[in-house]
Amino acid sequence: MEVKTSLLDNMIGVGDMVLLEPLNENSFIENLRKRFDHNEIYTYIGSVVISMNPYRSLPIFTPEKVEEYRNRNFYELSPHIYALADEAYRSLRDQDKDQCILITGESGAGKTEASKLVMSYVAAVCGKGQEVNKVKEQLLQSNPVLEAFGNAKTVRNDNSSRFGKYMDIEFDFKGDPLGGVISNYLLEKSRVCKQPRGERNFHIFYQLLSGASNDTLTKLKLDRDFSKYNYLSLDSATVNGLDDAASFRTVWNAMQIVGFMEDEVQSVLELVAAVLKLGNIEFKPESRVNGFDESRVKDKNDLKEMCELLGIEQSVLERAFSYRTVEAKMEKVSTTLNVAQAYYARDALAKNLYSRLFSWLVTRINESIKAQAKTRHKVMGVLDIYGFEIFEDGDNSFEQFIINYCNEKLQQIFIELTLREEQEEYIREGIEWTNIEYFNNAIICDLIENNQNGILAMLDEECLRPGTVTDDTFLDKLNTICAEHQHFESRLSKNSKFLTDHSLPHSCFRIQHYAGKVLYRVEGFVDKNNDLLYRDLSQAMYKATHSLMKQLFPEGNPAKVNLKRPPTAGFQFKASVGGLMRNLQTKNPNYIRCIKPNDKKAAHIFTESLVCHQVRYLGLMENVRVRRAGYAFRQSYESSLERYKMLCKQTWPHWRGAARDGVEVLLTDCSVPAEEFAYGRSKIFIRNPRTLFTLEERRRACLEDLATLIQKIYRGWRCRTQFLLLKKSQVVVAAWYRRYAQQKKYQKIKSATLVMQSFIRGWKARKILRQLKYEKRCKEAVTTIAAYWHGTQARRELRRLKEVARRKHAVAVIWAYWQGLQVRREYRKFFRANAGKKIYNFTIQRIMQKYFLGLKTTMPSMSPIDNTWPARPYMFLEGAHSELRRIFHFWRCKKYQGQFTEEKKAVYEEKLEASEIFKDKKALYPSSVSQPFKGDYLEIQKNPKYQKLNSAVEDKVLLADVVNKINRANGKGAPRLFLLTKNNFVLADQKTGQVKASVPLPDLTSVSVSTQSDGFFALKLKEGSASAAKGDFLLSSEHLIELITKLHRTGATAADRDQINIDISDEFLVQFNQDKVCVKFIQGGPKNGNSAACKRKNNRLLEVSVPSSP
Ligand SMILES: Nc1ncnc2c1ncn2[C@@H]1O[C@H](COP(=O)(O)OP(=O)(O)O)[C@@H](O)[C@H]1O
Ligand SMILES: [Mg+2]
Repeated sequence: MEVKTSLLDNMIGVGDMVLLEPLNENSFIENLRKRFDHNEIYTYIGSVVISMNPYRSLPIFTPEKVEEYRNRNFYELSPHIYALADEAYRSLRDQDKDQCILITGESGAGKTEASKLVMSYVAAVCGKGQEVNKVKEQLLQSNPVLEAFGNAKTVRNDNSSRFGKYMDIEFDFKGDPLGGVISNYLLEKSRVCKQPRGERNFHIFYQLLSGASNDTLTKLKLDRDFSKYNYLSLDSATVNGLDDAASFRTVWNAMQIVGFMEDEVQSVLELVAAVLKLGNIEFKPESRVNGFDESRVKDKNDLKEMCELLGIEQSVLERAFSYRTVEAKMEKVSTTLNVAQAYYARDALAKNLYSRLFSWLVTRINESIKAQAKTRHKVMGVLDIYGFEIFEDGDNSFEQFIINYCNEKLQQIFIELTLREEQEEYIREGIEWTNIEYFNNAIICDLIENNQNGILAMLDEECLRPGTVTDDTFLDKLNTICAEHQHFESRLSKNSKFLTDHSLPHSCFRIQHYAGKVLYRVEGFVDKNNDLLYRDLSQAMYKATHSLMKQLFPEGNPAKVNLKRPPTAGFQFKASVGGLMRNLQTKNPNYIRCIKPNDKKAAHIFTESLVCHQVRYLGLMENVRVRRAGYAFRQSYESSLERYKMLCKQTWPHWRGAARDGVEVLLTDCSVPAEEFAYGRSKIFIRNPRTLFTLEERRRACLEDLATLIQKIYRGWRCRTQFLLLKKSQVVVAAWYRRYAQQKKYQKIKSATLVMQSFIRGWKARKILRQLKYEKRCKEAVTTIAAYWHGTQARRELRRLKEVARRKHAVAVIWAYWQGLQVRREYRKFFRANAGKKIYNFTIQRIMQKYFLGLKTTMPSMSPIDNTWPARPYMFLEGAHSELRRIFHFWRCKKYQGQFTEEKKAVYEEKLEASEIFKDKKALYPSSVSQPFKGDYLEIQKNPKYQKLNSAVEDKVLLADVVNKINRANGKGAPRLFLLTKNNFVLADQKTGQVKASVPLPDLTSVSVSTQSDGFFALKLKEGSASAAKGDFLLSSEHLIELITKLHRTGATAADRDQINIDISDEFLVQFNQDKVCVKFIQGGPKNGNSAACKRKNNRLLEVSVPSSP
């Protein structure tokens, strides 16, 4: 842990005056000057901050600075007002201690600025959020409003606060601001009517006249020209660097933010205007019969305008300026006012009006900024009050007296609280408490405020006393009562000591304040203390219709006539200061003491006498002495051990035990005299700053040694590591280089070898190639030569053989011709001239003969369907050969025909007819071709079983067979005997031979069969015929082709009717009784064997499934 104590490190002068050595006024001021010259405007006295006014903006109030000081220890950074604000805020927030910040110093020393800095710092570091920010804004914006009405340009300060201000800022438990309460003390109201040379009235008058719009001014019946108003002194009406018009807008805005209503702002401005108007009312004397002068208003215009502004009856006010009513014991006495009294009354009214307006403003602001929540809150009070005011030429009056009294009180609580805190710390730390000698100013406070014989009490007494009362009678009284008081000095007092003191004028008294002697002139004390406003005036004001005005003068209410005198100014002030002191005593104080470096409001100038004076009356030296009375310096054991541990071997570099023991060891080792320090519970207390500086000096020297040691070790370490690194690197580099060089060499040798190798190989290869090429060429040459040679040989042989063959052929031809010639010559004598033709014919005849004879043996069979025929031997026989074949076929057929009987012929005719009817139309047909048509399958004539049936049939039976009659109800067949004769067909029972139906052929119109291989057929009868009564027949037969053919033939031969119509189709209608039923044939699988099956599908449909023919 590095303990930073900026008070000791890098300091310009000393940051804390407590450490000043030697301590005297000169060194104190020298230290301030040194720091001031280096722009160090803040210096501590323990926890008190001395602030020098830099009179220029320094870059030390930036947001970055705020961050720097935020949450840091007070002594950690260089002295700053932010450090104090932070300390106060943190102990408020974290330790729940109410705080007050007391800012003192003379006018222009920077108190108001300091208070604003504290407030802005607290605003920056405390909580954020919409509500919180609004509160902050209102608190901050109350400043411009109060400054406009309560500040004025003075000789010392262009923006001098002419009132004391104490502001309580309230925080919740988290440290977020809730609101605030402002108290104001003693506004310097005399300024309203009269301003010292080089000064001016309160800012608001000038701001209103320069900044308000023409409209507003007209409404307020005002003129922009300052010179029109008696109350506005003309010298320094404008101030360099102050823009009144802009300030007016700022104030206007601020009032809005703080929460003033539009009409409230208007009322306030009306009152300000009224004050200006009031100043312009002038009086003239008017002689009365009784010889006294009576005042009269000179020019009634301003009076009229003012009355209009405030809604006052002009006559009432006018009368109030001329008469005064005194009420005593139920009696009313009216006396006239002379001109001087009238002016006095006017000014008193103006002052009262303005100061009451100011108080009202404070109350109104308080109403806006007061904390809403009723919860308990923590409070930080900021007191910006005038410091000691001493006018050198003894021109101090009642105001200074009051102000100085206030400072005296503040000093008292300062002493009380500081000493008490000091004392408490000693007790807390268990250090023996030795009484500190310091000047207690309680005695001076007593001189002023004592209820029996205090100066204020006597002033009041004098004011209330009947009879003539003047400032001189008051001084006389003081001279008697306070004569013995050590701090009271007066020429005429009973204390003969001052009889010859010429620095003390007769009309003055002097008080030895704790900060110096102040000479007060008694003139005006009584008047100012009385602060009298004639009742007629307050009643006139109360009668105004202007509501704010009415509010400001409640005592003017005739219903509440109070005969008691109002409390005097001194009394009021004493009471409010008493209240303030009680308030401050409950809080933890933090002091800022402001010092003005020069009287010129200029930067960089340090007027020693001026500073010295302030240091004196602010009691800063006392402050340091009190702080140093016991032990000048204290620090916690941990941080002091951390800071000085290098001074002792045992504690350096680490101390393992408790910090306190470490410090003890350390201090013993450093042989610090025992009376120079004391051990507290958590802190070490050092009596003399010199001891601390000795320690610091030793620490510095030790640090130097340590630094050298560290440097030495570090340098050694660095060189060694550097060397080791270099060495390591060198080895690496060398290894790499060697490797590289070897690699290079090896590669060079390798490539040289390769070159040589390749040359040798090339050379060898070329040699072999040459050899091989030579051998190849030789071989080729040999082959070529051999080929040429063989070719030559072969061609020669071929030529020779061709020659031989040609010659042989020539010989043969010649021989043949020769032979032919020889033969022809020899046989010519044996042949006649036409022998050739005879030979030809003979040859032809022989050939023909041979052909026919041969044909006889090669003749084909007699079957007409035998297609074979021998091949022809010669071309020229073509015609004869095919003609012979045709003739032979016809002949063979004739022979075949010749062997048929009449019966057989009829059979073939039937077959022929069947072929005409069914060929290519019904699939059943081909299987019937090879079956002979037997006709009578039942052998009806021979079989005795059918005897009866036979006899019932008249004609010859052409066909008798068993058929199946299809039952239309279920499609099943029942066997019937079917007989066909020349004229009709009969259906009979199979078992009994009983005739069931006999139908004459002419009644048969058509027969329907399918195209398939089934045996179903329908016999359709002529409509209307007797046989048709029972409907058509649907039958099936195994000999369907024969049956139909016979039926057709028979029908065809019946003389008187047409052929029976044969209808071949897969779907036909059959008439059963009344209904027509459709018989439909479908191709079915062979599941019922090979026979077709009939099945009734519905009433109108019989479906015959026919197995597909194989
Ligand atoms: N911290 C500061 N930095 C810059 N200027 C300052 C500072 N404090 C005071 N001043 C200047 O000094 C003037 C008077 O300061 P002010 O606070 O009004 O004095 P006081 O309230 O003590 O009479 C200010 O108007 C400003 O110009
Ligand atoms: Mg001020």
